[in-house]
Amino acid sequence: MYKRDDTVAIHGHEYFDPISGAFIVPIYQSAIFKHMDEEGRLRSTDRGTDLKYSREENPTVRALEKLLTKLDSGEDALCFCSGMAAISTTLIGLLDKGDKVLITKEAYGTTIELVEDLRKYSIEVEMVYPDTEKILESITKDVKVVFLETMTNPTLKVIDIKEVAKACLDEGVLLL
Ligand SMILES: Cc1ncc(COP(=O)(O)O)c(C=O)c1O
Repeated sequence: MYKRDDTVAIHGHEYFDPISGAFIVPIYQSAIFKHMDEEGRLRSTDRGTDLKYSREENPTVRALEKLLTKLDSGEDALCFCSGMAAISTTLIGLLDKGDKVLITKEAYGTTIELVEDLRKYSIEVEMVYPDTEKILESITKDVKVVFLETMTNPTLKVIDIKEVAKACLDEGVLLL
């Protein structure tokens, strides 16, 4: 509906409260919600889950997810309260026994620890030097997920995300 990114960033959340008329998203601090409506039906969210507990779904977070989806022209989004929550949920959700994840040697330390831990669930981990050419050489069909950070920390290497994304698309590999 909105064309300009700055307008989407302000209005793209789709939040509207028909009772108060509020169209700016309030910060819902509620942990729990009454999850039946007046007719005794589950109060379903637009994702089809029943709204009952903020850790699962919260109207403020949902508004942010919708806004980010639009800014990124994506299908949907999930927001988390920490970086490691997002990274671990995504990796654990995508990887199965026997899958392979490719990660640069200079990724965030706790992320490296997490993927090292995934080895005990029979997930193969390949650590590659953080250099675009080296990463491209390692992107093959047997890789399920490439996990990339740029700029890298601590040596500030800049990876060509566009090139890596193109290679991932060609090989059917997911890029995080
Ligand atoms: C690159 C990177 N990934 C992940 C994290 C973890 O984020 P959080 O501390 O919010 O779990 C950080 C935190 O500094 C980070 O810099």
